[in-house]
Amino acid sequence: MAETTYILAVDQGTTSTRAILFDHSGSIVAVDQREHQQIFPRAGWVEHDGLEIWDNTRAVIGGALGKANVNRSAVAAVGITNQRETTIVWDRHTGIPIANAIVWQDTRTQRLVEELGGDEGPRRYAARTGLPLATYFAGPKACWLLDNVAGARARAEAGDLLFGTIDTWVLWNLTGGPDGGLHVTDVTNASRTMLMDLHTLQWDSQLCAAIGVPESMLPQIRSSAEVYGTCHPGILDGVPVAGILGDQQAATFGQGCLERGMAKNTYGTGNFMLLNTGTEIVPSDNGLLTTVCYRLGDEPAVYALEGSIAVTGSLVQWLRDNLGMIGAAPEVETLAQSVNDNGGTYFVPAFSGLFAPHWRPDARGAIVGLTRFVTKGHIARAALESTAYQTHDVLQAMNADSGVALRELKVDGGMTANDTLMQFQADILGVDVIRPVVAETTALGAAYAAGLAVGYWSSTDDIRTNWQEAKRWSPAMDAGTRDRLLRGWDKAVQRTLDWVD
Ligand code: G3P
Repeated sequence: MAETTYILAVDQGTTSTRAILFDHSGSIVAVDQREHQQIFPRAGWVEHDGLEIWDNTRAVIGGALGKANVNRSAVAAVGITNQRETTIVWDRHTGIPIANAIVWQDTRTQRLVEELGGDEGPRRYAARTGLPLATYFAGPKACWLLDNVAGARARAEAGDLLFGTIDTWVLWNLTGGPDGGLHVTDVTNASRTMLMDLHTLQWDSQLCAAIGVPESMLPQIRSSAEVYGTCHPGILDGVPVAGILGDQQAATFGQGCLERGMAKNTYGTGNFMLLNTGTEIVPSDNGLLTTVCYRLGDEPAVYALEGSIAVTGSLVQWLRDNLGMIGAAPEVETLAQSVNDNGGTYFVPAFSGLFAPHWRPDARGAIVGLTRFVTKGHIARAALESTAYQTHDVLQAMNADSGVALRELKVDGGMTANDTLMQFQADILGVDVIRPVVAETTALGAAYAAGLAVGYWSSTDDIRTNWQEAKRWSPAMDAGTRDRLLRGWDKAVQRTLDWVD
C-alpha cells in the first residue's frame, strides 16, 4: 500500500453533506461540507431536493480532494454513509426524481401506517422486520409517492422508476446514473424500509405487496463492505465504491462497538443509541427497534437494538431559525449557562410525534412548568436537557431489553462538544459518558467498511487499535435531585401524549 493513499467517506446527512478523507490511522486529512435546504411544505412534512443533494455530493468530493491537494489516484476506495429512511423515487432513464425526497422525520404516512396495522396494531410486522409500524420508515413513504404523484404507480409498474434510500441515490449517481449506474443498497439501509425480512436479508414479497411497493423498483441488497463497482465518470472515475452503512450503523462501527453488548449514542439532528447484539436478532419488548448493525462481505450479519429519538440537535436549530432565540447553534450553551437550573421548565420536542420508546405519531411538542420567573435561559436549558432525558428513557429500554445494565456510554456527534449537556447526560444516566478522539465516527465507520473491503485495513483489529478516548464525564448529581428531575420529565412527556383526543 502506498503511503499516500486515503479512504474517502461521503456522509450524506439530514442537514448537510460531507466528504472526508481519512488516512490509515483513522485520522482526518481533509473535510468539505455543504448544507442543503430543509423544505417544510406543511405541518408534519419534511422534504429534500434529491438533485441538490447530488450536486452537493459532487461539490464536497471535489472540495475535500482539493483541500488535501490530491486527485483520484490517492483514493483507495469510497465509502457511503447516509441519513436513513429518507426516500427518493426517480426516473431510471433521466435520473430526475419524480418529487422531492420524503425525509425520515416526515409524518405524512400516519394514516397509511395505521391502516397497515389493521386489527393487529403497530407490531403487526415487527417479528419479520424488527420495526413497529411508524411514519419513520421508507416503504410506506415510497407507497405515498406512487399514489400521490400523477402517473407514478403506472410508471413504476412499467419499470421506469427506481426506489432508493439516499445511499442508493448517491451510489447510482456516482457510478454512472442513467448510463449504467448501480442500483444497490446495503443490509443496514434495507432494514429501515419495512420491506426486508431481517432473517433472510432479502426483500419480502408479502411485505412489498402489503405496503404497495413493486419489487421491481427496489435495489439489490448487498453487504456493507464489498466492492460494489467503480465511480464513473467524474473526478473519482475508476475508484471503487466499497462500503455502505446507514449513518447510525456507521457510527457504531466507527466507535468500535464490534462486540456484543457494546453501545454508542450519536447526537445529531436526532439521537440514536445502538447496542450491538451480535449475530442474534433480539426482539424488543420496550419500544426499541431491531435492526441490522453491519455485514462485512460474506460474514454473518451482526444485529443491533436501536433507540431512535427524532428531535435533539434539530431543536437547537428550531430555537435559532423559528424563534430567533440564538444567532448560532453553539450560543445555546451560553444561554443555558445564564441560569442555574431549568427553573421548573421542561421542553418535550415531539415535533415528529415521539419515537422510541413511545412510538406515538400523534404526540405534539410542549413546554411545561412555565411561571413568570422563567427566562429564555431556562427555555434554552430545558431544550438541552430534553436531549439527556430522552436518552435516559432509551437507555432504560435498552437495559430492560438486553437484561444487562450498560456501565458506560460512548458518544459522538455535534452536540457532544457541549460540555454542559454532556455533564448533565452523565448525571441523568448515572453512568460515565465517553467521547473518542475522532468524533466523526459516522464518516469513519463508512471509511472503515470501504477500507476493509479493499484491504486498506487488514482486519477489524485496526478499528480497535485506532479508537482512543478523548474525554470522559462522570456522574456527579445527587440521587434526590436526579429523581426529582426525572419525575418532572415524565409528567411533561405525559402531557404531549395526551395532546390529541
Ligand atoms: O434515521 C435517521 C438518521 O439516520 C438521521 O441521522 O445524523 O442525519 O440526524 P442524522
